[in-house]
Amino acid sequence: MKILFATSEAHPLIKTGGLADVSGALPRALHDAGHDVRLLLPAYAPLLRKAGAVIARSELMLDGARVRVLETRLPGSALVVWLIDHPLFSEREGNPYMSPSGHPWHDNPERFTLFCRAAARIATDQAMLGWRPDIVHANDWQTGLIPPLLSLEHNPPPSLFTLHNMAYQGVFDRSTFERLRLPWALWHDRGVEFWNNLSFLKGGIAYSRFITTVSPSYAREIQTPAFGYGLDGLLRERQADVVGILNGIDEQEWNPATDPYLPTGYTPESLDTKPRLKALLQAEMGLPVDEAPLLVGLIGRMVEQKGIDLVLEALNHILYLPIQVVALGSGERRFEDAFRALALAYPDRIAVRIGYDEGLAHRIEAGADTFLMPSRFEPCGLNQMYSLRYGTPPIVHRVGGLADTVIHASDENLAKGTANGIVIDNADTLAVGWAIGEALHLYRDRPDHWRAMQRAGMQQPFSWAESAGRYVALYKRMLG
Ligand code: ADP
Ligand code: GLC
Repeated sequence: MKILFATSEAHPLIKTGGLADVSGALPRALHDAGHDVRLLLPAYAPLLRKAGAVIARSELMLDGARVRVLETRLPGSALVVWLIDHPLFSEREGNPYMSPSGHPWHDNPERFTLFCRAAARIATDQAMLGWRPDIVHANDWQTGLIPPLLSLEHNPPPSLFTLHNMAYQGVFDRSTFERLRLPWALWHDRGVEFWNNLSFLKGGIAYSRFITTVSPSYAREIQTPAFGYGLDGLLRERQADVVGILNGIDEQEWNPATDPYLPTGYTPESLDTKPRLKALLQAEMGLPVDEAPLLVGLIGRMVEQKGIDLVLEALNHILYLPIQVVALGSGERRFEDAFRALALAYPDRIAVRIGYDEGLAHRIEAGADTFLMPSRFEPCGLNQMYSLRYGTPPIVHRVGGLADTVIHASDENLAKGTANGIVIDNADTLAVGWAIGEALHLYRDRPDHWRAMQRAGMQQPFSWAESAGRYVALYKRMLG
């Protein structure tokens, strides 16, 4: 099958979060399964610097804008990547979505409309590339206009739209719709119109044959008002076409036995190595080197979704316990500042690194005793899967992909040997504090159980091959 996979980020070329991990790994898994995949991305300035050799393949005129299609390969693989090259992308430094002040780029609607217009041309072989996909696979709001634009073409390939996070919708006012000169045929309540606004996300949902999301639980949750952001009604109507497929993880990149970011590897049989990595992490973060306290790790975007405020508040109450915390992330200023202040107040207990650091993320997954991720909502979540694989039992809230991957250390599950982490039923301060205490208790007083939990997580299957197979089954139904 020929698949055009359109996305706004893909590891290792450009990454702000889990979408990049998925967009780097899933197309490769499809390619490895014998499919002809083209990964389509905007040619952002930082991406162009990371890409290897790049050649110009063709040129398009899109609503007056001249756009080039560049070709490269995903680093470390044979996967073909096509890049949409325009100054809106190639002459813009920094984060793909946000200015340094933390606000969305003012011209994001223009930028991603341009990207979607280019994708629709390519998908209908109007870009002189000599290649026509059987399937278009679009991801998140930045690609949401591709299915609607395709619907206006003669005999278009069918679209599948994956929702990685409904919290980001690409909603702009009506005058933006007019300014973008999008076809009026799309402006109706079954189209891109959402309460008299333009919604990229709704467009992707409304015009795709299948809507997938990244875990079975999230697929159910988004059909309820609490998680649907006003689109739950539309999703309920499309119930039969909404499918949850759990993300895999890149098992080479995230392999504790061979991880190049670690001074030494380990397996379920050599977990005795882990305390050494804990000591190195403590030293790297400037904490006292000591095996006794429970070392709690945390990595991620510092935003409300991730329950950062709950963590900060809970820590204020439980620092009488023998615990240490290492945190890595960036996001909202107020959370970054609060974490910095807490680390200043308790330098022996809490260490924080604000910023993005791939290597440190690996060393935290390996060196921490437990990984804290009490997200309020979590479409899939990758970090809890990385921590399972690294023998670092996670503490999570029973929601979305967290609920689908972590099995609570209840007496029953411990007895059965299935427990692999701590699961709380409420995203609140009390529950977070309780869970950290529970992890400490198991780690310190029930080491056999703790070891069994570590091993259970490390042996869980997370390969992309199986998830990719589920996407292929949907692609086949789209063609059949
Ligand atoms: P989300 O996509 O909602 O941010 P995920 O858990 O799906 O959450 O994926 C987050 C990805 O981004 C993981 O690969 C994680 O390791 C990485 N990540 C997030 N913040 C940082 C950071 N500050 N430094 C390094 N990696 C980070
Ligand atoms: C989003 C979600 C996260 C998911 C990732 C990849 O960023 O917040 O839960 O793992 O996409 O699908």
